[in-house]
Amino acid sequence: MVEGTQYESEADMGYFRDNVEKAKGYEPGYQPAQTDVIKLNTNENPYPPSPEVMKVLAEIKPDQLRRYPDPMGNVFRQAAAEVNNVAPEYIMCCNGGDDLLSIAFRAFCDESRLVAYPVPTYSLYPVLANLQNCSPIEVPFDSEFNLPPKLAGSGAALTIICNPNAPSGSFVSTGELASLADELSGVLLIDEAYVDFTEENCTSLVRDFDNVIILRSMSKGYSLAGLRFGYAIAQPELIAGLVKIKDSYNVDAVAVAAATAAIKDRKYFKENVEKIKKDRELLTAQLRALKFKVPKSFANFVLAESKNCEAGRIYDKLVQRNIYVRYFSSPGLSDKLRITVGTSEQNDRLILALKEILSE
Ligand SMILES: Cc1ncc(COP(=O)(O)O)c(C=O)c1O
Repeated sequence: MVEGTQYESEADMGYFRDNVEKAKGYEPGYQPAQTDVIKLNTNENPYPPSPEVMKVLAEIKPDQLRRYPDPMGNVFRQAAAEVNNVAPEYIMCCNGGDDLLSIAFRAFCDESRLVAYPVPTYSLYPVLANLQNCSPIEVPFDSEFNLPPKLAGSGAALTIICNPNAPSGSFVSTGELASLADELSGVLLIDEAYVDFTEENCTSLVRDFDNVIILRSMSKGYSLAGLRFGYAIAQPELIAGLVKIKDSYNVDAVAVAAATAAIKDRKYFKENVEKIKKDRELLTAQLRALKFKVPKSFANFVLAESKNCEAGRIYDKLVQRNIYVRYFSSPGLSDKLRITVGTSEQNDRLILALKEILSE
């Protein structure tokens, strides 16, 4: 036996750490190569980004590519600080919200420093926990997706609340999250990837609590999923700790310029999300009329439970019609479909297809 390892011989040792070897890895939603499909499976925004973004991209100078970018993306930091009414020191730019999640797990979690979150939720959390050799404490939501009281006493180093939650679209009030932040001894990360589609957010909590980190994504409300940009909001002491972990240049110069143009165009952003919110309500009503059970959603997707037909079968029949939604075979979700709110026309085509499938 090689001293200090669990291997019988050096030959038994794989190239990877044990938990990496055993890990299944995150399974991203299907990205079809064809463009003539109705893609309602990964919660992208169906509308293009602000014209200001396209203008900035057209004007990128060779020097912006030749030189390393600003490691902190200060131009974006300033713009995001103004939008959120905090000082720029409260903001850290990230290569998508997923980059912040990965940084947070590396910052706070290991074998003895656990993570807790309610389930079902974003399926990346257990994947990142596993890579840290950290056993997640998964506390089930009740049938109404209320915050489980047990979370407050879990003793976890990191507690994550996805709010609005994916895939349920449910929402926990700022007041409840303030109480949770107050009770926890560890860090509370509020994953607000979908918050642009709600009326309320938790920015005020970072002023009152030194253990709160808010995750924001530019992928959903700002139509920039392909660019990879997100950011953290937290008190400067927490931000300084996270900065030690991030790649030195985790956001590139082109992305900083484009994301800054997007967040500054408030008019375009508001019009875009209002359209989606309106269509979300219409889509919910149309699905309910087809006898799907659809809880109220605060995000840019809905979770539809089929009562009369297997969700997996509906999924397959939609794929045959070039319509992609998300189907999870995991317990508690296998009778449901998560459907991104598309353009009005895409939603109409989905409803038409569902009517056909349900009458077959
Ligand atoms: C709940 C949740 N958090 C975070 C993210 C990360 O988003 P991105 O890395 O595109 O900013 C996603 C992406 O779908 C998500 O669903």
